[in-house]
Amino acid sequence: MISNITFTMIKPDAVADGHIGAILKMIADAGFKFKALKLTQLTEADAKKFYEVHAERPFYGELVNFMSSGPIVAAVLEKDNAVEDFRKLIGATNPADAEQGTIRKKYARSVGENAVHGSDSNENALIEAQFHFSGREIF
Ligand code: RTP
Ligand code: MG
Repeated sequence: MISNITFTMIKPDAVADGHIGAILKMIADAGFKFKALKLTQLTEADAKKFYEVHAERPFYGELVNFMSSGPIVAAVLEKDNAVEDFRKLIGATNPADAEQGTIRKKYARSVGENAVHGSDSNENALIEAQFHFSGREIF
């Protein structure tokens, strides 16, 4: 599972807005296979660690509060070219800039509450998958 996986979260906004089913269907219809899947909630410490790379950014505090504010769906997905193809499927960070038909265009509330996460590299996909799932939870 080295180069063909990506990690995603359906963020608290999209879970609260009732979009879990629709988003999982879009992911499956785009050809991704589910290797791991669970409903869970990040603690504040988890969210801080997960988004540590953004610690110096002005939106970090807001991001950490938001990501730990309610349940999320975490998943590991498999497909050829998973990282890049998944980022195409989710669209730009700011839903206002996202292409029509992308998950963020359809379901995100705003740039901060933008419905889904997608890994930005193969290396981070593996780190993020292992952050959320034990070996026996990944199939
Ligand atoms: P993600 O990591 O969640 O998949 O999002 P991304 O790669 O598209 O964007 P990134 O630059 O990694 O930013 C991480 C998350 O921080 C929040 N953000 N808020 N208020 C703002 O200007 C702002 N900018 C970024 C978003 O939730 C973004 O997804
Ligand atoms: Mg990112």
